[in-house]
Amino acid sequence: MDAQLNRNLLEFIYRSPSMYHTVASICEELEGNGFSRLQETEPWHLKPGKNYYVTRNGSSIIAFKIGTEPKNLSFRISASHSDSPAFKLKAAPELKGPGDTLRLNVEAYGGMIDATWLDRPLSIAGRVFVKSGDAVESRLFCTEKDVALIPNLAIHFNRDVNNGYAFNRQTDLCPLFTAGAMKEGEFDKLIASSLDVDPQVLLAKDLFLVNRQRGCIWGATDEFISSPRLDDLQCAFATLQGFLSTERKSGVNVYCCFDNEEVGSNTQQGAMSTFLKDCLERIGEGLGMGREDYRRAIAASFLLSADNAHAVHPNHPEKTDAENRCYLNHGLVIKENAAQKYTTDAMSRAFVREICARVKEPYQLFANRSDLAGGSTLGNLSNIQVSLHAADVGLPQLAMHSCYETAGARDTESAVRIFAEYYRVEMRIENDERFVFLTEENESIPVIRKPRQLK
Ligand code: CO
Repeated sequence: MDAQLNRNLLEFIYRSPSMYHTVASICEELEGNGFSRLQETEPWHLKPGKNYYVTRNGSSIIAFKIGTEPKNLSFRISASHSDSPAFKLKAAPELKGPGDTLRLNVEAYGGMIDATWLDRPLSIAGRVFVKSGDAVESRLFCTEKDVALIPNLAIHFNRDVNNGYAFNRQTDLCPLFTAGAMKEGEFDKLIASSLDVDPQVLLAKDLFLVNRQRGCIWGATDEFISSPRLDDLQCAFATLQGFLSTERKSGVNVYCCFDNEEVGSNTQQGAMSTFLKDCLERIGEGLGMGREDYRRAIAASFLLSADNAHAVHPNHPEKTDAENRCYLNHGLVIKENAAQKYTTDAMSRAFVREICARVKEPYQLFANRSDLAGGSTLGNLSNIQVSLHAADVGLPQLAMHSCYETAGARDTESAVRIFAEYYRVEMRIENDERFVFLTEENESIPVIRKPRQLK
């Protein structure tokens, strides 16, 4: 088991407290690997054998590697999400009183487990827009220390708290910001001063309460990892490592990490947006493809939607299906759903099985209990704009949407090996019901690159 890989994952998550920071962390990794930045507002001049990336809204990112011989072009795509459930600050963020206290005015972004956010020191992270000369521009923001906390009500005032208590999000979950040392209006001043700008030029904010507790590897045999935001930064990280590890001569490998999965993906930059479609069309045009070639390429392409999955909970095994269930440290999960909330079908499952077999890594099957509505993810939503063969996969985890989640330490490396092979293998989709592997059966599978030590 590669402990360095998990340490890098936990460092990646620590440096990615908001979706804007996640995308910045990914940009940094891509820049370090020689990728060139493109802007959606500028012309693209693309060349075979080169690597590029583009962001939208600073919170979604698409990177791609063009093969050296992109003749029979197809796209090999993975997609994960950059956002996690959190409390978002309202535009007027301060609540006065009682007494001289100030609290912060927040609302839920996504479906978090509320109780896990109480009684823990929290930081504030996101982005702000500042006026700079004639320009108004975005700046990443994260407080250097914890500055807020949502205190529980003492059990003496709430004797029923252990009998199941529904928190009221307007009244119970307002974080304490100051007990009198700071005055009304000083929240914005605090942000302006940590950005070293005048409060007057601070025009607008997208800020979230975030848990900056570091992730850890734990257990008598180091078999667990726990951290904030494992959903879905574990997949965002593992698909990125797989993407960076390998090359494919023909076609284009594409890495996507989309914002707003936790609130339905239906935004300018979410998986339901035109971001992927616009990118793929521009790549096709940049490589001189006509409409006919482009449509053939799309028909021969594949999307792997990667979002974490629910492992069997040790105290509640009855919550999962009797057979289609997954456990920590037993490998990548292939998710299926008859209603097609997950994109996997027999053809795409057969393809993922083959990929796993080629690198001798295990996989697990997951379906929800038939009497329980499961969560949704981004693959089927992305398929509305760009319709492709697709499968939904993820890594097994516990306590999804808790402020501190838990996964299996062995699964990260296994997933990176599978994603690397997914991006490496030469496979041709010949018609809508047949695919052919073009690489030799006995060809040696390259070892994934050694994870580098993060500073
Ligand atoms: Co997720």
